[in-house]
Amino acid sequence: MSMQVKRRADYQPPAFLISSVELTIHLHPQSTRVHSVLKIQRNGNHDQELVLDGEQLNLLELSIDGQTITNYEVTDSALVIPSVSNEFTLTTVCTISPADNKALEGLYLSNGVYCTQCEAEGFRRITYFIDRPDVLATYQVTLHGERKTLPTLLSNGNPVDEGINADGTHWVKWVDPHPKPSYLFAIVAGEFDVLKDEYITLNGKRVALELYVDKGKRDRGQFALDSLKRAMAWDEQEYGLEYDLDIYMVVAVDFFNMGAMENKGLNIFNSKFVLANPETATDEDFFNVESVIAHEYFHNWTGNRVTCRDWFQLSLKEGLTVFRDQQFSADMTSPLSNRIKHVRVIREHQFAEDASAMSHPIRPDEVIEMNNFYTVTVYDKGAEVIRMLHTLLGKERFRAGMDEYFNRYDGQAVTCDDFLSAMQTATDLDLAHFSRWYSQSGTPEITVSQKVSADKTWVTISQYTPPTADQQDKSELFIPLGFSCIDLNGRHYQDCEQKVLEGVLILDQPETTLTFDNGGQELIPVMLAGFSAPVRIKQGLSSEALLATFLYAQDDFNRWDALQQLYDWCITQYEINQSVEDKIWEGLRDALESEKNNYELLSECLVIPSFETLCQTRTNIHVETLHAAREQFAREFITKLENELKDVYHSIQLDSYQYNQQDVIARRCKNVVLGHLARLTQHEDLVKEHFNQSDNMTDSLGALKAAQHGHRELFKTLMETYGEQWKNDPLVLDKWFSLHATTERADILSHLTLLQSHPQFSIDNPNRVRALIGSFAFYNTSGFHALDGSGYQYLTDYLLKLDDCNPQVAARLVTPLTQWQRFDQHHQEQMRRQLARLLEHDGLSSDVFEKVSKSLAYESTAK
Ligand code: TRP
Ligand code: ZN
Repeated sequence: MSMQVKRRADYQPPAFLISSVELTIHLHPQSTRVHSVLKIQRNGNHDQELVLDGEQLNLLELSIDGQTITNYEVTDSALVIPSVSNEFTLTTVCTISPADNKALEGLYLSNGVYCTQCEAEGFRRITYFIDRPDVLATYQVTLHGERKTLPTLLSNGNPVDEGINADGTHWVKWVDPHPKPSYLFAIVAGEFDVLKDEYITLNGKRVALELYVDKGKRDRGQFALDSLKRAMAWDEQEYGLEYDLDIYMVVAVDFFNMGAMENKGLNIFNSKFVLANPETATDEDFFNVESVIAHEYFHNWTGNRVTCRDWFQLSLKEGLTVFRDQQFSADMTSPLSNRIKHVRVIREHQFAEDASAMSHPIRPDEVIEMNNFYTVTVYDKGAEVIRMLHTLLGKERFRAGMDEYFNRYDGQAVTCDDFLSAMQTATDLDLAHFSRWYSQSGTPEITVSQKVSADKTWVTISQYTPPTADQQDKSELFIPLGFSCIDLNGRHYQDCEQKVLEGVLILDQPETTLTFDNGGQELIPVMLAGFSAPVRIKQGLSSEALLATFLYAQDDFNRWDALQQLYDWCITQYEINQSVEDKIWEGLRDALESEKNNYELLSECLVIPSFETLCQTRTNIHVETLHAAREQFAREFITKLENELKDVYHSIQLDSYQYNQQDVIARRCKNVVLGHLARLTQHEDLVKEHFNQSDNMTDSLGALKAAQHGHRELFKTLMETYGEQWKNDPLVLDKWFSLHATTERADILSHLTLLQSHPQFSIDNPNRVRALIGSFAFYNTSGFHALDGSGYQYLTDYLLKLDDCNPQVAARLVTPLTQWQRFDQHHQEQMRRQLARLLEHDGLSSDVFEKVSKSLAYESTAK
C-alpha cells in the first residue's frame, strides 16, 4: 500500500506488454493456488527491469522460459526481475487466502461463493501482473474445485472443455478471445440457481444468457433477465452495437463493495441490483436493477471493447456509460422523473463534492488511492458532460461521432482526448474550448441581471466558477444553457439577435447580453431548461416570478425547479423567523391544483427539498435552525394543503401490483402524499391502513416512512411486524436497518449499537454497513449532527473498526465528516476533531488517509 501521489502528467507507456495469460487456479479457502503463464514482450528499446505488481501473494515458484530463476526481488507491492530478454515466458505459482479477504478486492470467499473484483487494481492480489488498463492480453483460465460445493466454475469468455480429476474434484476451462485489461478478469465458483435464456441479435447471432443467483432465489431473477434483453436490443437499435461472445453471464453475490462490475462476458453484481419481485423490491429497486443491468451491459462497448489508457481516464468509460444508461432508462420509463432523479444526485452530492477537499475534475490530475475516484464527479458529472455534447451536436451527429469513436479505437486503451477527437469529426463546433470541462473542477455559477428602458429589455447572463480545493484559477467554460424568457402573464419572448437557438444559448464568454424588443418591461428569464449543464443558477426570482415560471414555462424541469426554489425561499423565511404570506400559500395551492391529475409532475413537485439539497444554497449552516425550518415548512405545507392532498390520495386507486410506468407514477404520488398527510396526527389510521392493505414493498415502505415521523407507537409496531416478517431476508432487512438508522430519537446511538448485534448484521457485509451506519451518517440529520458531537464520534469509532477490514467502504462512509466546511463553527470543530482522531490511527488505509488528510488540510472560505 502506498500513500504516494500519482499524476496524470507522468503517464509512461508500459515497459513490457503481456500478450497472453494462462491461469490454472485450484480453489481452496485459505490456500488457493494460482499458476500463471505469461507471454511477455519488451515494449520499445530500453533495458529497464521487469516490474510486476503483486500484493498479499505468497510466491512459491518462479521461472522464465522453463528455467527457475533466483535473481529477483519481492517487495510489499511488486516482483522485480532485473534482467530479462526481449521476449519470454514467465511462470509463477502463488497462493492466496480468499477466506481472509475482507476487503472484497481480488479473490474472496463469501457465503460459500468465490468471486473476484479486479477493478481498479485488484488483479495484483490474485497473481503477479502488469496490472494497468493499457496492458491487453488474451486469457485462458482453468478452474479446479470441489464438485459438491462448487458445481459451477465460471470465468470470462466461452467454456471450451471440462473434466474430472483423479481426486474427485472437477475442472472447467474458459477462453476469452478478446484481448482485455486485467481489471476485466473474473472468476466465480459456487452453487447457484440458474435462469437461462437466449438472445438473438439483429444479425441473427445466438447468445446464451445465464443469470446465477443464490439457491432458492430463482423467482427473484426474471426481471433482471428481461432487463438484460431490453438493454441488448436498445444498444443495437440506438448505437448499432451488437454483443460479441456466445454467452453472457450475470452472477449475483451478497458481498460486494459497489453496485456491479462489467467483467467481460461475466458481470458480477451486488445481489441488491439483481434480485427483485413485488413482495421484496420497491419500484425504485426495480428501476435500479434495470438501470444497473443496462449500465454493465453497455460497458461491453464503452469500457471493454474500447477501454481506458490509464485510471485518470476513468470518465471515458464511466461518464459515457452512465449517460447511455440514463438514455436507456428514460426510454424505458419516464424522461421527467429520470431527469429529476439525476439532477438531485448532482445537486445533493456532486456539488457537495466540488465544495469539499476532494474536489477534482471529471478527469482527475492527481490520485493517491484510485478506489477513491469512483465518484459522483467522474460518473455523474462525467455523464452530464457527455449530455452537453449530445445537446450541442444533436442526436444524429452525436451518433456519427460515436461510430467514429468505435471505428478508430476498437480494441484499444485510449484517453478522453481521443474520445473528443473522434467526436470532433462529427461537428463544426470547435471542441477545444468545450474540452475544458475535462480539466476544470468546480461548479460554475450563472447569474442574470436585466436593464429595462422605455422600449427594450437587456438580459445579461454571466458565468463564474469559484476556486476549489484543488484548483485556484478557473476560466470560462463552454456552456449550453437552456434558456427562454417569459413575463408574469406567461407571454414568451425571443431575443432580437437570435442568440438563443432552439431554446439553447451558448455561453462561451464570461458574459453575454440578450436584447428584447418587448416594450420595455421586466422579464422572467427561465434558465437551464432540462438541466442542460451541471451549473448552479444564482437568480433570486421573486415568489410571483417563480409561480409564473411554474405555470407558464414550457420545460417541465424548469417548472419543477421553480417550485423547489420557492420552497427553498420559504424555508429561508422560517430560518430568519419570518412568516410566509398567505398569498404565497394560495398561489402554491392554485399551482398544484392545476396539475392535480398529472401525477408525474405532481409527485415530483410535492417533494420538499432534502436537507442535503438545502445545504447547497447555503453557507455557514446552523444545522438545528435549518433542520427546524425545514420541519416547520413541511408542517405548514400540509396544514395549508390538507384538503387538496386528501383528495389526491383518494383519487388514486390501483389494482394489484404491477411494475409499469403508469402504476409506478401513481404509486409514487400516493406515497408522497401519504408522507405529507402523516404529519397530522389525525391521519394515523390512514398510514396503518396503507400498510395493512399493501400487496407490495413500495407501499409497505411508504407507510413505514410515513409513520417514522411523529407516530412513535405505530412506527414501533409496524417495524416489529416488518422485522419479524423479513428476519431471514437480509436484502429486505436493509430497508429496515436504514429506517431505524434515520429515525429521530434521543437514544439513537444506543439503538444503533443494539442493531449491530442483530443476527443479520455483519461488519463484513457492505450492504448491511451502508444500510445502518451509512444511512445514519448521510441522512440522520439530528442524530449525526448532535450538538455534543456524539454522532460524529460514533461514526468515527465505527470507521476505525471498519477500516481494518474494508478500507474501500470505510473511505466512502467518511464522506459526511469531510463536508465540515458547510457548517457553522461549532459543528466544524467537532467534525474536524474526529477527522484528526482518524488521522492519528496507526495503520490507516491509503483510502481513508487520502480523504481525511485532504479534508483536514483544506482551509475553506467558510471557515
Ligand atoms: N466499473 C464498475 C461500474 O460499472 C464499478 C466498480 C465495481 C468498482 N466494483 C468496483 C470500482 C470496485 C472500484 C472498485 O461502475
Ligand atoms: Zn460503470
